[in-house]
Amino acid sequence: MSVYSLVNINLASFDERGNFFEVKNTSIVIEDEIISGMGEVKGKIIDLEGRAVIPGFVDSHTHLVYSGCRCFEYRKPYLEKLKMGGGIYYTVKKTKEEKTEKLLEDAYNRAMIMLRNGTTTLEIKTGYGIEIDEELRELEIIEKLKEILPQDVFITFLIHVPPKEGDRREYLEEITSLFPRIKHRIDFVDIFVDEGAFTIDEARFVFERAKREGIPIKVHADELEYTGASEVAAEFDAVSADHLIKIKEKGIKSLKEKDVVACFLPCTSYFMGKEFAPFRKIIDSGVKWAIATDHNPGTSPCLSMIFAINLACNIGGLRVEEGLGGATWGGAMALRKNKDEKLKFGIIAPQKQADLVILDADSYIHLAYEFNPEIIKGVIKKGKIVWWRK
Ligand code: NIG
Ligand code: FE
Repeated sequence: MSVYSLVNINLASFDERGNFFEVKNTSIVIEDEIISGMGEVKGKIIDLEGRAVIPGFVDSHTHLVYSGCRCFEYRKPYLEKLKMGGGIYYTVKKTKEEKTEKLLEDAYNRAMIMLRNGTTTLEIKTGYGIEIDEELRELEIIEKLKEILPQDVFITFLIHVPPKEGDRREYLEEITSLFPRIKHRIDFVDIFVDEGAFTIDEARFVFERAKREGIPIKVHADELEYTGASEVAAEFDAVSADHLIKIKEKGIKSLKEKDVVACFLPCTSYFMGKEFAPFRKIIDSGVKWAIATDHNPGTSPCLSMIFAINLACNIGGLRVEEGLGGATWGGAMALRKNKDEKLKFGIIAPQKQADLVILDADSYIHLAYEFNPEIIKGVIKKGKIVWWRK
Protein backbone atom coordinates (compact mmCIF):
# COMPACT_ATOMS: atom_id res chain seq x y z
CA MET A 1 0.00 0.00 0.00
CA SER A 2 1.27 3.48 -0.82
CA VAL A 3 0.73 6.13 1.86
CA TYR A 4 1.89 9.72 1.66
CA SER A 5 0.90 13.18 2.84
CA LEU A 6 0.87 16.54 1.15
CA VAL A 7 1.77 19.01 3.88
CA ASN A 8 1.91 22.78 4.10
CA ILE A 9 -0.89 23.28 1.58
CA ASN A 10 -3.81 25.66 1.09
CA LEU A 11 -6.79 23.50 0.17
CA ALA A 12 -9.71 24.88 -1.84
CA SER A 13 -12.68 22.85 -3.03
CA PHE A 14 -16.45 22.52 -3.04
CA ASP A 15 -18.04 19.96 -0.74
CA GLU A 16 -20.52 17.34 -1.96
CA ARG A 17 -23.43 19.79 -1.65
CA GLY A 18 -21.69 22.48 -3.64
CA ASN A 19 -20.43 24.71 -0.82
CA PHE A 20 -17.02 26.27 -1.26
CA PHE A 21 -14.40 25.87 1.45
CA GLU A 22 -10.79 26.85 1.90
CA VAL A 23 -8.44 25.51 4.59
CA LYS A 24 -5.09 27.19 4.85
CA ASN A 25 -1.87 25.66 6.08
CA THR A 26 -3.19 22.12 6.28
CA SER A 27 -2.36 18.62 5.01
CA ILE A 28 -4.01 15.61 3.41
CA VAL A 29 -3.22 11.92 3.46
CA ILE A 30 -3.38 9.83 0.31
CA GLU A 31 -3.59 6.05 0.56
CA ASP A 32 -3.35 4.30 -2.80
CA GLU A 33 -6.03 5.93 -4.97
CA ILE A 34 -7.98 7.62 -2.20
CA ILE A 35 -7.85 10.68 0.06
CA SER A 36 -7.89 9.02 3.46
CA GLY A 37 -7.43 11.93 5.83
CA MET A 38 -7.53 15.70 6.03
CA GLY A 39 -5.56 17.76 8.51
CA GLU A 40 -3.53 14.64 9.32
CA VAL A 41 -0.08 13.38 8.38
CA LYS A 42 0.84 9.77 7.60
CA GLY A 43 3.52 7.99 5.57
CA LYS A 44 5.97 9.78 3.33
CA ILE A 45 5.84 13.59 3.53
CA ILE A 46 5.77 15.90 0.53
CA ASP A 47 6.16 19.53 1.64
CA LEU A 48 4.39 21.81 -0.84
CA GLU A 49 5.64 25.02 0.81
CA GLY A 50 2.29 26.80 1.01
CA ARG A 51 1.00 25.99 -2.46
CA ALA A 52 -2.71 25.83 -3.29
CA VAL A 53 -4.21 22.37 -3.85
CA ILE A 54 -7.53 22.02 -5.68
CA PRO A 55 -9.47 19.08 -7.16
CA GLY A 56 -8.38 17.85 -10.60
CA PHE A 57 -10.45 19.44 -13.35
CA VAL A 58 -13.42 17.56 -14.79
CA ASP A 59 -13.92 18.50 -18.45
CA SER A 60 -17.46 17.29 -19.06
CA HIS A 61 -17.81 18.33 -22.73
CA THR A 62 -15.18 17.59 -25.41
CA HIS A 63 -15.06 16.51 -29.05
CA LEU A 64 -11.55 15.07 -28.94
CA VAL A 65 -11.52 12.59 -31.82
CA TYR A 66 -11.17 14.20 -35.23
CA SER A 67 -8.74 14.97 -38.01
CA GLY A 68 -7.92 18.20 -39.81
CA CYS A 69 -7.65 21.76 -38.67
CA ARG A 70 -10.15 24.47 -39.61
CA CYS A 71 -7.94 27.54 -39.27
CA PHE A 72 -8.82 28.47 -42.87
CA GLU A 73 -12.38 29.07 -41.63
CA TYR A 74 -11.15 31.39 -38.90
CA ARG A 75 -13.64 34.29 -38.45
CA LYS A 76 -15.84 33.04 -41.31
CA PRO A 77 -19.57 32.91 -40.45
CA TYR A 78 -20.10 29.54 -38.75
CA LEU A 79 -23.66 28.82 -39.84
CA GLU A 80 -23.00 29.83 -43.43
CA LYS A 81 -20.05 27.42 -43.59
CA LEU A 82 -22.09 24.64 -42.04
CA LYS A 83 -25.01 25.14 -44.43
CA MET A 84 -22.63 25.13 -47.40
CA GLY A 85 -21.24 21.76 -46.32
CA GLY A 86 -18.13 23.08 -44.56
CA GLY A 87 -17.66 23.40 -40.82
CA ILE A 88 -18.55 20.17 -39.07
CA TYR A 89 -18.96 18.46 -42.49
CA TYR A 90 -15.37 19.35 -43.39
CA THR A 91 -14.14 17.72 -40.18
CA VAL A 92 -16.31 14.68 -40.89
CA LYS A 93 -14.67 14.31 -44.33
CA LYS A 94 -11.12 14.68 -42.97
CA THR A 95 -11.87 12.26 -40.13
CA LYS A 96 -13.22 9.65 -42.53
CA GLU A 97 -10.06 9.90 -44.63
CA GLU A 98 -7.77 9.40 -41.62
CA LYS A 99 -6.39 6.08 -40.34
CA THR A 100 -7.72 4.82 -37.02
CA GLU A 101 -4.21 4.69 -35.46
CA LYS A 102 -3.57 8.33 -36.31
CA LEU A 103 -6.96 9.46 -34.96
CA LEU A 104 -6.17 7.58 -31.75
CA GLU A 105 -2.67 9.03 -31.50
CA ASP A 106 -3.86 12.61 -32.06
CA ALA A 107 -6.70 12.33 -29.54
CA TYR A 108 -4.33 10.69 -27.03
CA ASN A 109 -1.85 13.55 -27.41
CA ARG A 110 -4.61 16.12 -26.90
CA ALA A 111 -5.76 14.36 -23.74
CA MET A 112 -2.19 14.30 -22.42
CA ILE A 113 -1.90 18.07 -22.95
CA MET A 114 -5.17 18.34 -21.00
CA LEU A 115 -3.66 16.20 -18.24
CA ARG A 116 -0.63 18.48 -17.90
CA ASN A 117 -3.14 21.34 -17.70
CA GLY A 118 -4.88 19.70 -14.77
CA THR A 119 -7.72 17.72 -16.39
CA THR A 120 -7.98 14.44 -14.51
CA THR A 121 -11.40 13.37 -15.84
CA LEU A 122 -12.91 14.01 -19.25
CA GLU A 123 -15.93 13.26 -21.35
CA ILE A 124 -15.36 12.51 -25.04
CA LYS A 125 -18.08 12.61 -27.70
CA THR A 126 -18.37 10.79 -31.00
CA GLY A 127 -20.03 12.88 -33.70
CA TYR A 128 -17.58 13.41 -36.54
CA GLY A 129 -18.61 10.14 -38.16
CA ILE A 130 -22.25 10.73 -39.12
CA GLU A 131 -22.30 7.46 -41.13
CA ILE A 132 -23.06 4.50 -38.89
CA ASP A 133 -19.74 2.70 -39.49
CA GLU A 134 -17.78 5.88 -38.94
CA GLU A 135 -19.63 6.64 -35.70
CA LEU A 136 -18.84 3.12 -34.51
CA ARG A 137 -15.19 3.62 -35.46
CA GLU A 138 -15.11 6.80 -33.34
CA LEU A 139 -16.73 4.90 -30.49
CA GLU A 140 -14.03 2.21 -30.66
CA ILE A 141 -11.32 4.87 -30.62
CA ILE A 142 -12.81 6.47 -27.51
CA GLU A 143 -13.05 3.05 -25.84
CA LYS A 144 -9.34 2.54 -26.58
CA LEU A 145 -8.58 5.99 -25.15
CA LYS A 146 -10.45 5.02 -22.01
CA GLU A 147 -8.17 1.99 -21.70
CA ILE A 148 -4.87 3.80 -22.22
CA LEU A 149 -5.31 7.29 -20.78
CA PRO A 150 -4.46 8.06 -17.14
CA GLN A 151 -7.72 10.00 -16.84
CA ASP A 152 -11.21 8.66 -16.18
CA VAL A 153 -13.03 8.87 -19.53
CA PHE A 154 -16.80 9.13 -20.02
CA ILE A 155 -18.22 8.28 -23.44
CA THR A 156 -21.00 10.23 -25.13
CA PHE A 157 -22.64 9.11 -28.36
CA LEU A 158 -23.35 12.40 -30.13
CA ILE A 159 -25.84 12.73 -32.97
CA HIS A 160 -24.20 15.82 -34.34
CA VAL A 161 -25.59 16.92 -37.72
CA PRO A 162 -27.86 15.27 -40.31
CA PRO A 163 -26.22 13.68 -43.37
CA LYS A 164 -25.93 16.14 -46.25
CA GLU A 165 -28.20 13.98 -48.37
CA GLY A 166 -31.01 11.58 -47.67
CA ASP A 167 -34.02 11.45 -45.43
CA ARG A 168 -33.40 12.87 -41.97
CA ARG A 169 -36.02 10.72 -40.24
CA GLU A 170 -34.63 7.55 -41.81
CA TYR A 171 -31.17 8.54 -40.64
CA LEU A 172 -32.41 9.06 -37.09
CA GLU A 173 -34.24 5.72 -37.20
CA GLU A 174 -31.04 4.02 -38.27
CA ILE A 175 -28.66 5.70 -35.85
CA THR A 176 -30.96 5.28 -32.85
CA SER A 177 -31.44 1.61 -33.75
CA LEU A 178 -27.84 1.23 -32.54
CA PHE A 179 -28.89 2.12 -28.96
CA PRO A 180 -29.81 -1.40 -27.79
CA ARG A 181 -26.47 -2.69 -29.12
CA ILE A 182 -24.22 0.07 -27.78
CA LYS A 183 -25.97 1.06 -24.56
CA HIS A 184 -23.43 -0.79 -22.39
CA ARG A 185 -20.53 0.87 -24.19
CA ILE A 186 -21.62 4.49 -23.73
CA ASP A 187 -22.41 6.72 -20.79
CA PHE A 188 -24.61 9.32 -22.49
CA VAL A 189 -26.50 10.18 -25.67
CA ASP A 190 -26.27 13.78 -26.91
CA ILE A 191 -27.81 15.67 -29.85
CA PHE A 192 -26.97 19.06 -31.36
CA VAL A 193 -30.28 20.92 -31.52
CA ASP A 194 -29.89 24.15 -33.45
CA GLU A 195 -30.29 25.95 -36.71
CA GLY A 196 -28.28 23.95 -39.26
CA ALA A 197 -28.44 20.84 -37.07
CA PHE A 198 -31.45 19.01 -35.55
CA THR A 199 -34.90 20.22 -34.50
CA ILE A 200 -36.69 19.89 -31.21
CA ASP A 201 -38.97 17.19 -32.63
CA GLU A 202 -35.99 15.23 -33.84
CA ALA A 203 -34.42 15.54 -30.39
CA ARG A 204 -37.62 14.19 -28.81
CA PHE A 205 -37.49 11.22 -31.17
CA VAL A 206 -33.89 10.48 -30.10
CA PHE A 207 -34.57 11.01 -26.38
CA GLU A 208 -37.57 8.68 -26.39
CA ARG A 209 -35.36 5.94 -27.76
CA ALA A 210 -32.50 6.73 -25.39
CA LYS A 211 -34.92 6.64 -22.43
CA ARG A 212 -36.34 3.33 -23.56
CA GLU A 213 -32.82 1.87 -23.35
CA GLY A 214 -32.03 3.62 -20.07
CA ILE A 215 -29.25 5.77 -21.55
CA PRO A 216 -28.73 9.11 -19.74
CA ILE A 217 -29.08 12.23 -21.90
CA LYS A 218 -27.04 15.35 -22.60
CA VAL A 219 -28.02 18.12 -25.04
CA HIS A 220 -26.28 20.80 -27.11
CA ALA A 221 -28.96 23.37 -26.35
CA ASP A 222 -29.74 26.97 -27.31
CA GLU A 223 -26.26 27.72 -28.64
CA LEU A 224 -26.53 29.58 -31.95
CA GLU A 225 -30.28 30.20 -31.82
CA TYR A 226 -32.99 29.76 -29.19
CA THR A 227 -34.80 26.49 -29.97
CA GLY A 228 -36.29 25.55 -26.59
CA ALA A 229 -33.90 22.61 -26.30
CA SER A 230 -33.26 23.45 -22.64
CA GLU A 231 -36.96 22.91 -21.86
CA VAL A 232 -36.92 19.61 -23.75
CA ALA A 233 -33.74 18.58 -21.91
CA ALA A 234 -35.62 19.05 -18.65
CA GLU A 235 -38.69 17.24 -19.97
CA PHE A 236 -36.49 14.17 -20.56
CA ASP A 237 -34.58 14.49 -17.27
CA ALA A 238 -31.29 15.17 -19.04
CA VAL A 239 -28.13 15.09 -16.95
CA SER A 240 -26.91 18.33 -18.49
CA ALA A 241 -27.85 21.00 -21.03
CA ASP A 242 -24.77 22.51 -22.61
CA HIS A 243 -23.96 25.90 -24.24
CA LEU A 244 -27.17 27.87 -23.34
CA ILE A 245 -26.06 31.15 -24.90
CA LYS A 246 -29.63 31.88 -26.06
CA ILE A 247 -31.54 30.23 -23.20
CA LYS A 248 -34.70 32.00 -22.02
CA GLU A 249 -36.20 32.46 -18.57
CA LYS A 250 -38.52 29.46 -18.95
CA GLY A 251 -35.55 27.28 -19.96
CA ILE A 252 -33.68 28.28 -16.81
CA LYS A 253 -36.79 27.52 -14.74
CA SER A 254 -37.15 24.08 -16.21
CA LEU A 255 -33.46 23.23 -15.66
CA LYS A 256 -33.92 24.16 -12.01
CA GLU A 257 -37.13 22.16 -11.64
CA LYS A 258 -35.57 18.98 -13.01
CA ASP A 259 -32.10 19.48 -11.52
CA VAL A 260 -30.40 19.51 -14.94
CA VAL A 261 -26.80 20.75 -14.81
CA ALA A 262 -26.12 23.83 -16.97
CA CYS A 263 -22.80 23.31 -18.70
CA PHE A 264 -21.08 26.60 -19.57
CA LEU A 265 -18.64 26.63 -22.49
CA PRO A 266 -16.97 30.06 -22.31
CA CYS A 267 -14.14 29.19 -24.73
CA THR A 268 -16.71 28.67 -27.50
CA SER A 269 -18.31 32.08 -26.97
CA TYR A 270 -14.88 33.68 -26.80
CA PHE A 271 -13.62 32.00 -29.96
CA MET A 272 -16.79 32.75 -31.92
CA GLY A 273 -17.02 36.35 -30.70
CA LYS A 274 -20.42 35.66 -29.16
CA GLU A 275 -21.97 36.60 -25.86
CA PHE A 276 -21.65 34.24 -22.89
CA ALA A 277 -24.57 32.22 -21.58
CA PRO A 278 -26.34 34.17 -18.81
CA PHE A 279 -24.08 32.66 -16.14
CA ARG A 280 -25.20 34.88 -13.28
CA LYS A 281 -28.90 34.44 -13.92
CA ILE A 282 -28.56 30.68 -14.21
CA ILE A 283 -26.49 30.28 -11.04
CA ASP A 284 -28.64 32.69 -9.06
CA SER A 285 -31.74 30.72 -10.09
CA GLY A 286 -30.34 27.78 -8.16
CA VAL A 287 -29.31 25.70 -11.19
CA LYS A 288 -26.15 23.60 -10.80
CA TRP A 289 -23.43 24.63 -13.26
CA ALA A 290 -20.38 23.07 -14.88
CA ILE A 291 -17.61 24.67 -16.92
CA ALA A 292 -15.98 22.71 -19.77
CA THR A 293 -13.70 23.40 -22.74
CA ASP A 294 -15.93 22.04 -25.56
CA HIS A 295 -12.63 21.20 -27.26
CA ASN A 296 -13.27 20.86 -31.03
CA PRO A 297 -11.59 22.10 -34.23
CA GLY A 298 -14.42 24.47 -35.24
CA THR A 299 -15.57 26.53 -32.29
CA SER A 300 -13.16 25.90 -29.44
CA PRO A 301 -9.65 24.66 -30.15
CA CYS A 302 -8.91 24.88 -26.41
CA LEU A 303 -7.34 22.20 -24.22
CA SER A 304 -7.09 24.16 -20.98
CA MET A 305 -9.67 24.21 -18.22
CA ILE A 306 -7.73 27.04 -16.58
CA PHE A 307 -8.33 29.16 -19.67
CA ALA A 308 -12.04 28.31 -19.45
CA ILE A 309 -12.15 29.32 -15.77
CA ASN A 310 -10.18 32.45 -16.49
CA LEU A 311 -12.70 33.51 -19.17
CA ALA A 312 -15.71 32.58 -17.06
CA CYS A 313 -14.43 34.79 -14.26
CA ASN A 314 -12.78 37.71 -16.05
CA ILE A 315 -15.33 38.12 -18.85
CA GLY A 316 -18.32 36.12 -17.64
CA GLY A 317 -18.32 37.67 -14.19
CA LEU A 318 -18.19 34.49 -12.10
CA ARG A 319 -16.53 34.62 -8.73
CA VAL A 320 -13.31 32.60 -8.69
CA GLU A 321 -14.93 30.10 -6.31
CA GLU A 322 -17.74 29.63 -8.85
CA GLY A 323 -15.23 29.19 -11.66
CA LEU A 324 -13.29 26.59 -9.68
CA GLY A 325 -16.51 24.87 -8.58
CA GLY A 326 -17.88 24.63 -12.12
CA ALA A 327 -14.64 23.10 -13.39
CA THR A 328 -14.48 20.46 -10.63
CA TRP A 329 -17.62 19.72 -8.58
CA GLY A 330 -19.93 20.92 -11.39
CA GLY A 331 -18.15 18.84 -14.02
CA ALA A 332 -18.52 15.78 -11.80
CA MET A 333 -22.24 16.59 -11.36
CA ALA A 334 -22.58 16.74 -15.16
CA LEU A 335 -21.18 13.21 -15.42
CA ARG A 336 -23.48 11.45 -12.95
CA LYS A 337 -25.57 8.68 -14.48
CA ASN A 338 -28.39 9.34 -12.06
CA LYS A 339 -29.14 12.20 -9.75
CA ASP A 340 -28.70 10.28 -6.50
CA GLU A 341 -25.22 9.12 -7.40
CA LYS A 342 -22.54 10.17 -4.90
CA LEU A 343 -19.46 11.85 -6.34
CA LYS A 344 -16.27 9.81 -6.65
CA PHE A 345 -14.13 12.71 -7.88
CA GLY A 346 -14.35 16.47 -8.41
CA ILE A 347 -14.14 17.36 -4.71
CA ILE A 348 -11.56 17.02 -1.95
CA ALA A 349 -12.97 14.93 0.88
CA PRO A 350 -12.15 11.69 2.72
CA GLN A 351 -12.79 8.55 0.69
CA LYS A 352 -12.92 10.44 -2.62
CA GLN A 353 -10.51 9.68 -5.42
CA ALA A 354 -7.18 11.48 -4.97
CA ASP A 355 -7.41 13.56 -8.16
CA LEU A 356 -5.60 16.80 -7.41
CA VAL A 357 -3.97 19.82 -8.99
CA ILE A 358 -1.16 21.65 -7.22
CA LEU A 359 -0.82 25.29 -8.21
CA ASP A 360 2.49 27.11 -8.25
CA ALA A 361 0.79 29.83 -6.22
CA ASP A 362 -0.49 30.12 -2.68
CA SER A 363 -4.16 30.68 -3.54
CA TYR A 364 -6.81 29.26 -5.89
CA ILE A 365 -7.51 32.90 -6.84
CA HIS A 366 -4.53 32.67 -9.18
CA LEU A 367 -6.77 30.56 -11.48
CA ALA A 368 -8.39 33.81 -12.58
CA TYR A 369 -5.72 36.26 -11.52
CA GLU A 370 -2.64 35.03 -13.36
CA PHE A 371 -2.14 34.55 -17.07
CA ASN A 372 0.64 32.08 -16.46
CA PRO A 373 0.92 29.04 -18.73
CA GLU A 374 3.11 27.40 -16.08
CA ILE A 375 0.74 27.93 -13.16
CA ILE A 376 0.40 24.18 -12.53
CA LYS A 377 3.13 22.63 -10.41
CA GLY A 378 1.80 19.09 -10.36
CA VAL A 379 -1.10 16.79 -11.16
CA ILE A 380 -2.14 13.74 -9.12
CA LYS A 381 -4.49 11.15 -10.59
CA LYS A 382 -5.84 8.35 -8.38
CA GLY A 383 -3.03 9.00 -5.92
CA LYS A 384 -0.22 8.88 -8.53
CA ILE A 385 1.83 11.92 -9.44
CA VAL A 386 1.27 11.96 -13.21
CA TRP A 387 2.88 15.33 -13.95
CA TRP A 388 5.40 17.44 -12.06
CA ARG A 389 7.00 20.66 -13.28
CA LYS A 390 10.73 20.62 -12.55
O1 NIG B 1 -20.12 22.09 -29.32
N1 NIG B 1 -22.16 22.90 -31.52
C1 NIG B 1 -21.92 21.82 -32.00
N2 NIG B 1 -20.80 21.14 -31.90
C2 NIG B 1 -19.56 21.70 -31.53
C3 NIG B 1 -18.88 22.33 -32.69
C4 NIG B 1 -18.33 21.32 -33.57
C5 NIG B 1 -17.59 21.85 -34.74
O2 NIG B 1 -17.78 23.00 -35.18
O3 NIG B 1 -16.78 21.05 -35.27
C6 NIG B 1 -19.73 22.61 -30.35
O4 NIG B 1 -19.46 23.82 -30.41
FE1 FE C 1 -19.94 20.59 -28.18
